[in-house]
Amino acid sequence: MFAICQYRCFGCFLCDLALARGEYQLHVTLVYMTSTTNSAQGGPSESFPEYFKKLSADYARQTGNSTRKVIERILQELQPSVTPSSIIHDNACGPGTATTAIISHIGHEPSLIEATDFSPGMVDTLLNEISTKNWKNVRASVMDSHELTFPDNTFTVSITNVSISTFQDPLRCLREVHRTLRLNGLAVVSTWKRFAVSDLIHTAQQAVRPDAQLVKVPRAEFMEDGYLQNLMAEAGFPSGSIQVWDISTVIQGQDSVGLREFMLGGFTASARAGWTDEEHARWEGAIDSAIAEEQTKNSGIKMEAWVVTAKKQ
Ligand SMILES: C[S@@+](CC[C@H](N)C(=O)[O-])C[C@H]1O[C@@H](n2cnc3c(N)ncnc32)[C@H](O)[C@@H]1O
Repeated sequence: MFAICQYRCFGCFLCDLALARGEYQLHVTLVYMTSTTNSAQGGPSESFPEYFKKLSADYARQTGNSTRKVIERILQELQPSVTPSSIIHDNACGPGTATTAIISHIGHEPSLIEATDFSPGMVDTLLNEISTKNWKNVRASVMDSHELTFPDNTFTVSITNVSISTFQDPLRCLREVHRTLRLNGLAVVSTWKRFAVSDLIHTAQQAVRPDAQLVKVPRAEFMEDGYLQNLMAEAGFPSGSIQVWDISTVIQGQDSVGLREFMLGGFTASARAGWTDEEHARWEGAIDSAIAEEQTKNSGIKMEAWVVTAKKQ
């Protein structure tokens, strides 16, 4: 577990999580939305980077491509200043979700994308993609968002897509985003406003066991209106430069099948802790009913995100 020292000191973080073991599973379930059913049996016991390594290959499917849809909407509709000449940081990049979306949005590589993540598995997945696609202007490296190794004033655009609530110290990471941006550089930070998976799990829990202890949504404060923008201001971005959008995306078809697999898998085990065999047997039906209800209401599984942009001045 503490082998992660090489990634800087995450000991306290992991100790906290280990103490609140149930919440750890929830955290993994509701924030990271990852791992395969098989690898999840019994829950994760390795370090976070190791854990993310396992999930990296199947990340897009298990997340229903939801984070990809968020960054695509940002690029298409918010028209942030991402241009062919941009020098971009894809911060906590996962398997390169924002990187691939940017290249497909522009139609070719911009001047430079530095993609970083603290999980070697995520970075390896992106390195394979870089090699397959023969990208020349994309670099991927293992790096902790709490202590970026880039010099001050490096980037024209810094994107942190649906990762901020997973950081141990989000404010410190936003200060790093601010430090590494050039003057007039643009920060784009997104976070879930409505993470439908947690709602569906709650509905299924209550359907099977009306008195079930509902799984806790970690870092729920990020879902509140104003929380992320206040944090951006505290990190050094002038209030006048901060803009906020509330965007939604609907997960349908094969993407919703991936999300269903995730909800039925081992990482939602804490939602069923202490249940009888008969109750366990009803979980799949309860999840399917919750999904069906959601699909009737929203024509799919509706996820909402806060997107906050700000300029360094
Ligand atoms: C929910 S995923 C989002 C990934 C990607 N940005 C996307 O849009 O799909 C969160 C990512 O944050 C990364 N992460 C969490 N804490 C980190 C840290 N302290 N430093 C760097 N990456 C971190 C994880 O490894 C994971 O890839």
